[in-house]
Amino acid sequence: MIVDIINKKRLGEELSFHELDLFFNGYLEGKVKDYQMSSLLMAICIQGMSEEEVFSLTKVFIDSGDVLDLSFLPGVTVDKHSTGGIGDKTTLIIAPIVASLGVPVMKMSGRGLGYTGGTIDKLESIPGFRIDLSEEEVMEQVKNIGIVITGQTANLAPMDKVIYALRDVTGTVSSVPLIAASIMSKKIAGGADKILIDIKVGNGALLQTMEEAEALSDLVIKIGKIYQKEVRTMISDMNVPLGFCIGNSLEVMEAIRILKGEEKDNNLTKLCFDLATQMVCMSKNILVQDAQDMVMDSILSGAAYQKFLELVHSQHGNLEKISVSKKCKTMKSTKSGTIVSISAIELGKLSVLLGAGRTTKEDKIDYGVGIELLVQVGSKVKKGEPIAKIYYTKLPNLQNFEDIFLIK
Ligand code: URA
Repeated sequence: MIVDIINKKRLGEELSFHELDLFFNGYLEGKVKDYQMSSLLMAICIQGMSEEEVFSLTKVFIDSGDVLDLSFLPGVTVDKHSTGGIGDKTTLIIAPIVASLGVPVMKMSGRGLGYTGGTIDKLESIPGFRIDLSEEEVMEQVKNIGIVITGQTANLAPMDKVIYALRDVTGTVSSVPLIAASIMSKKIAGGADKILIDIKVGNGALLQTMEEAEALSDLVIKIGKIYQKEVRTMISDMNVPLGFCIGNSLEVMEAIRILKGEEKDNNLTKLCFDLATQMVCMSKNILVQDAQDMVMDSILSGAAYQKFLELVHSQHGNLEKISVSKKCKTMKSTKSGTIVSISAIELGKLSVLLGAGRTTKEDKIDYGVGIELLVQVGSKVKKGEPIAKIYYTKLPNLQNFEDIFLIK
C-alpha cells in the first residue's frame, strides 16, 4: 500500500528498491497523487536516506527514460552541473568557453528551484530561443557546432523532471539524497564520460552547511563509480550572489559581458574560469596551468563569445530582442562605510517577489525584472550613493531593502 511506504519512511526505515520503484513509477502513472508524493518527499527530507536508497532512487530515475550514447562525439565528453544559487549563470559562460576549446558540450539544464534561478529560464529570456529540442536535434547540433543547451528532453530522466517541479513548491528541495539522485540520474542518462559538479553552499544555496555539501560530494562520487564515470566536485560559496545581476534577461546580458572579456575580476568570473579549467583538464588530460591559459585565451580571442552566438543562433534565439523592464528604481545606501556582506538569500527572495522566479509550478516568469548590484563585497560607499537598480513591472515593498547589505 502506498501509505505504508510513506509511513515506513516517516519512521526512518529503509525503503527497498522495489518500494521506491513502485511509489515513484506509480506517481508517473498517476496512481500516486501529488499529495502522497509530497508527503513521501517531506519524509525523505526529514529522515534522510541510506546510501543504498539513494543508489536505488537514482536507478529508478535513470530507468524512467533513455540513456544517451555520446560515443560518436570526438574526445572525452565532460558534463557540468551546478546545484544552483542566486545569480548563478555559470553554464551560460562555461559551456561556450569549453566548447570553443573543442570540448563538446551537450547540456540539459533545468528551471529555477526554490529561490535559485535556472539556466533554462535564463535562456528563455532570449526571444525565440528553443529549449525543447528533440533528442535528434540535440545530437545533430552538438555534432555540428559542438554545443547545445536545452531543457531535459522528454525521454531523459523524465521522472526527475516531474519530481523536481513538485519539490520546488513543497519545501523539499534541500535534501542531500534527493539532490544527489536528481543530479546524477540526469548526468548518467546524459551519457557524458566525465562529470563535474559545482556544489554551492551558503544562505543562497540549497545546502546551508559545509557538512551537507561534503555529504553530497561524497554521494555523487560514489554514484559515479557505480556507473563507471569519473565525477569531480567543487564546493563554492553562495552566501553572496554570483556576479552583479539577478533576474533572467539581466543575467544573460551579464554572461555576455563576461564572454566578451568586459568583466574580469569578480566572484562569478573567477568561479567560471576555475570550472572551465577543470572541465578542460578532465577532457584533455592536461596540466591545470595549460588549461587555464587555454580558457583565458578563448575569452581574449573572442572564440568563447563567438561560440555563444553560434549556440543562440542555432537554437533560434534573437539577442537583439532581449530586454529588461523599462521601469527601474535606483536604491541608495542609507549609510557610509564598507560593504561587508550582501545576502544572497534575501536577493533571491526579492527576485521571486519581482517575478523573476516561481512560487507555484504554474507561475509564469517575468524575464525582464531583477536586481542589478552596483557594488560588491569590499566596495566603499557613501550615504546616498546608488548601490542597486531594481527592474520591475510591479514594485514590491522595498522597506527592508537595506537589510540585504551589511555596511560597516
Ligand atoms: N539541481 C538538480 O538538478 N537537482 C536538484 O535537486 C538540485 C539541483
